[in-house]
Amino acid sequence: MKIAVGSDHAGFYLKNEIIKHLEDKGYELKDFGAFTEASCDYPDYAVKVAEEVAAKNYDYGILICGTGIGISIAANKVPGIRAALCNDTFSAHASREHNDANILAMGARVIGGGLALDIVDTFLSASFMGDKHLRRINKISDIESKYKK
Ligand code: RB5
Repeated sequence: MKIAVGSDHAGFYLKNEIIKHLEDKGYELKDFGAFTEASCDYPDYAVKVAEEVAAKNYDYGILICGTGIGISIAANKVPGIRAALCNDTFSAHASREHNDANILAMGARVIGGGLALDIVDTFLSASFMGDKHLRRINKISDIESKYKK
C-alpha cells in the first residue's frame, strides 16, 4: 500500500511521528512536505497530496494541519478526492466504510500523537462497504461533474 503524506508547519511534528510509525510497519510512503516548521500555507501541501491520490499514484493520503480543517477543505477541491477530517477512531473507520475516504486529515493542535496513530491504523485497516454507500458516493461524484468547467 502506497501512502502520500503532507502537512503545514502546524502538522510538521505529528507528520514525522506518523511517517516513522508507518515506515516501521512496512508501508511505502512519500513525504510531500512541509519539510520544516517554518510558517507555510496548508493549501500548498493539500493540493500536492490530493493530486497524487486522485491520479492513483498513491492508495491513500494523510494530511495534517493545526485543526485538520483547512487542509481537508483544500484537498476536497481536487476532483475525485474524499478527504475526511477524523479526530477520533469511530470517524476514521466510518470514513472508509461509508464514504470510501481516500485522504485522512487530522488536527495536530486538536489531538495527541497516541490518538493520531490509532486513527491512522484504524483508517488504513478499514474497508469500503459498497452497496448503498456506493450509491451515495456516486452522488457526490455527480455534484463534482455538475460544477466541472
Ligand atoms: C495555521 O496557523 C493554521 O491555521 C492551520 O494549520 C490550520 O489549522 C488551518 O485550518
